[in-house]
Amino acid sequence: MKFTFLGHAACYLETASERFLFDPFLTGNPKASITPEKVNPTYILLTHGHQDHLGDSVAISRRSGATIITTFELSQWLEAQGAKVEPLNHGGSHNFSFGRVRITIAFHSSSIIEEGGRPLYLGEPAGIVLETEGNTIYHAGDTALFSDMRLIAEETPINLALLPIGDRFTMGPKQAAKAIEFLRPRMVVPIHYGTFPALTGDPQEFAKLAKATGAQIHILRPGESFNF
Ligand code: NI
Ligand code: MN
Repeated sequence: MKFTFLGHAACYLETASERFLFDPFLTGNPKASITPEKVNPTYILLTHGHQDHLGDSVAISRRSGATIITTFELSQWLEAQGAKVEPLNHGGSHNFSFGRVRITIAFHSSSIIEEGGRPLYLGEPAGIVLETEGNTIYHAGDTALFSDMRLIAEETPINLALLPIGDRFTMGPKQAAKAIEFLRPRMVVPIHYGTFPALTGDPQEFAKLAKATGAQIHILRPGESFNF
C-alpha cells in the first residue's frame, strides 16, 4: 500500500481496494500538498472536530460519496451537513469490507467555534486504528502522551504510527518518542508540526530522541509518499 503525507495531520493511504483520507484539513492549510477538489477517497477517517482536522471533510464526502468514519457526536453533526457517515465510539470496533476500524482514546478536546467565538462541543477526540490488507495503521489524532497506548498495540502490532510532535496543543518530540516505547510500531511518520509558527516541535529532534526505540522514522515533506 502507498502512504502519502498531505501536510499537518492529513494523510492518504491507497490500498488495493480503497483510498483512505485521514483528517483532511486542506483549505487554509499553508502546508497542504493537494486541494480538496483533487482528492478522491472512498473513506475519510476523522479523529476530532477541530478545524485543522475536520477541514474539508463535508465537502469531500458530498462530492465523492466518501463515508466519514468517526465518533458518534461528530458523525451526527457531519450527517446533518450532508455527509455520509459511519459512527463508532471509543473502545469499539467495526468490520468493514476492507478490514477493521477501532476508535481509541485521545487526551485532547474537540469542538468547532461558532459565530461569536462560542465553542460547539462535538464529543470526545479520538485516535483511529485501521487494520487492512495485513497492515495496522494508527493515527493518534491530537493527543497528550498516555501510558494506555500500550493497550492499543497489544491488540494488534502496529506497522505504521502517525504521531503528532508539534507541541503546545499535542505531544512534543520528547513525549512522542516516549509514545513509541508504548506503541512499538515498525514505522513512524511525525505529523502536526511546522504548519503554523506555534507548532515548534522539530522532526529531526524527534528522530534523534526516538533512535533508541529502533522504529523507522520517516520524515516526509507534504506530498511525499512511500510504499510498504
Ligand atoms: Ni485538535
Ligand atoms: Mn490539531
